[in-house]
Amino acid sequence: MMKRNLVLGALMLLAITAFAQKFENLAQTPPMGWNSWNTFGTRISEELVKKTADQMVASGMRDAGYVYLVLDDGWMMRKRDSITGDLVADPVKFPSGMKAVADYVHSKGLKFGLYNCGGTMTCAKYPGSHGYEAQDARLYASWGIDYLKYDWCYSEGFDAKESYTKMSQALKDARHPIIFSLCEWGTTKPWTWAKGVGHLWRTSGDIGNVFDGIKQYDTWHSLGVMRIVDLNADLYPYAGPGFWNDPDMMEVGNGQTETEDRTHFSIWCMMAAPLIAGNDLTKMSDTTIRILTNKDAIAINQDKLGRQGFRYSNKDSLQVWFKPLAGGDWAVCFVNRSNRTRTVRFDWKKENVIYSVNQQDLNAGKQRYKLFDVWEKKDRGTTAQPFVHKLAPHESVMMRMKK
Ligand code: GLA
Repeated sequence: MMKRNLVLGALMLLAITAFAQKFENLAQTPPMGWNSWNTFGTRISEELVKKTADQMVASGMRDAGYVYLVLDDGWMMRKRDSITGDLVADPVKFPSGMKAVADYVHSKGLKFGLYNCGGTMTCAKYPGSHGYEAQDARLYASWGIDYLKYDWCYSEGFDAKESYTKMSQALKDARHPIIFSLCEWGTTKPWTWAKGVGHLWRTSGDIGNVFDGIKQYDTWHSLGVMRIVDLNADLYPYAGPGFWNDPDMMEVGNGQTETEDRTHFSIWCMMAAPLIAGNDLTKMSDTTIRILTNKDAIAINQDKLGRQGFRYSNKDSLQVWFKPLAGGDWAVCFVNRSNRTRTVRFDWKKENVIYSVNQQDLNAGKQRYKLFDVWEKKDRGTTAQPFVHKLAPHESVMMRMKK
């Protein structure tokens, strides 16, 4: 009997290992890092990577948790190697080759990521991975790539779940632990099927550098921060340690006001969103550094419980967000989306805040919490009194509620 159980156990373990697609135990908290796309598009290079890596260390970003340096579209030659079929890093942009670039990034205590696409071409028309999944995965493993963002352009006629599963399996087979980031813009609701396939999935089209509304270009448009938030907000039941909703790279430091950048960052923290900076790190202001490295805000994002916060109310452009944290604390964030000054009045005792996923009750009627403002770094009383606070247009206040 004992022997039979052992055999059965061994068979089950074998089956789990054979079918487990993604690398487990990665991204137990939302991934943090930097991605080249928002600022540089395809104008990327070895020099940019080195300067950015240096700056991630010098600015304190690495020590605040930003460890993934990810090159987006534009790192390859227009054609695969005619003999081997391998992808080739552009030798003008990356004269030392991608392995040397990866080594440099690693030598700084960082991790290195690349981009490709499940279609026949990337969005900027470089070779896609369709049909080359295993070969590309082996190449990334040989370079020591730790993170792959996988896009979905030129994929007409392909099935998203099938394509992403195939790449995920190929990465697993290549045996170098790697975070797999799905980027099909939420079109096939990856939150319903990708939990075992990847570690994060985009939930929207591309973010644009505006607080709200839409930015229209010739043939495409990008969405302002709050539009992206609208698409991501209700997906909180689908996120957790190892699988995250991804509302796109951040626009912090790319030209919005300090107030707007703080609100943008605060909501990303409340939503347990991957914190992937998208600004030019070599030129950022002290204000931008302070926002991106606010350790109390990051602690809310990186909380080990891994709950995505939810929008508790949304009335007349005044929003209230809650996020349960480990150890019984909560985070709360009041956001003024409108263009006029508004006053928040929130009587804790009259509200019924419940995190629906596990029916966790804030219970502020009975439990008294101390309020700590994570931006102003000061106490703001307790939940024994109603919270009354003026918010300028686009301003927010994010607080840790301490038990
Ligand atoms: C798509 C993605 C972006 C970026 C570009 C690169 O638009 O959504 O995040 O990767 O492709 O071409």
